[in-house]
Order: sequence, then C-alpha cells, then structure tokens
Amino acid sequence: MYQLSYSSRATQDISEEVISGILTTSRERNKAIGVTGCLVFHKFSFIQIIEGEKNHIKSLFEDIRRDKRHSDVTLLWEGKNNGRNFSDWNMAYFTESKERSGSGEMRNFERNLFLLSELSAGSTSVLNMFWISVRKLISGELI
Ligand SMILES: Cc1cc2nc3c(=O)[nH]c(=O)nc-3n(C[C@H](O)[C@H](O)[C@H](O)COP(=O)(O)O)c2cc1C
Repeated sequence: MYQLSYSSRATQDISEEVISGILTTSRERNKAIGVTGCLVFHKFSFIQIIEGEKNHIKSLFEDIRRDKRHSDVTLLWEGKNNGRNFSDWNMAYFTESKERSGSGEMRNFERNLFLLSELSAGSTSVLNMFWISVRKLISGELI
C-alpha cells in the first residue's frame, strides 16, 4: 500500500457543479483501481490524501497534477503504509454546507474538521501531514 497527500489552489471560477463532477469521476475511477482517500475543499484550497497500489497512486497523481481545475499542486508527503486509513471511502469529501452558510456555519465546520483532524492523526506520516495541513488551512496559515 502507498499513500500520498498534496494541497492545491482551485481555479478562481470553480463552482459546486465542477466539484461535484470531480467527485463523481473520482469515486468511479478510484473504485475501479482500488483507491481510497479523502478530499477537503475550504477557502478555495484542496487538500487530498489518496491511498492504494503504488503504481496506481503515482499515475493518478500525475493526472491530478495536470488537471486544469486547480493549480499550485504541492506534494505534502508520500510513502508506504500498512493498510488503509480510509478503507470505506473511494473519496470522502469535506466542505462547509452552502445551504447553511454564514459565519456560524463556517465556524462550526472548522471546529468539527479540527476535532476530526485531532482524532484521526497518528498512524502514518502521510496521514499526519494531511491533517496538519487541514489544521493550517483552518487556522489561516495555509492560503
Ligand atoms: C482536486 C482534485 C482531486 C481529484 N481527485 C481525483 C481522484 O481521487 N481520483 C480520480 O480518478 N480523479 C481525480 N481527479 C480528477 C483527475 O484529475 C482526472 O480528471 C480524472 O481522473 C479523469 O482523468 P482522465 O480525464 O484522464 O480520464 C481530481 C481532480 C481534482 C481537481
């Protein structure tokens, strides 16, 4: 098993429809090649972790890197791991709810994601870097 995590900036005009398209393709293709992971979209940044066979992860990351819907793709960490951290998710997704937008909802989303990041860290360097970056994004250190 191999894990990889990166951050990127969404293109300025990205819409919910575009993101939902990315998720649909991702979940189908990831399922077909046995890839699992998690994608966070917040403040126009993406942070993603993908896990699966090394060759699948490497070639998927090359495709993702070339994708025009985001830029500044920055590798956070990659490496071998024993077992999966997101075995139930072909691509779990976190973003704040648009229906209940407003500063209360934003704070709630950030608080919950922060809590999740503290509960979920620990097992691998890639996973730790993923959650550390999520926390940095929430706290405004990563823009
Ligand atoms: C932020 C982001 C995350 C993505 N994550 C995945 C993913 O996990 N799996 C996947 O197959 N495609 C993902 N994609 C889409 C790929 O870049 C690519 O468009 C897709 O795999 C289809 O490739 P193809 O056009 O060569 O068939 C992602 C794209 C973006 C912008």
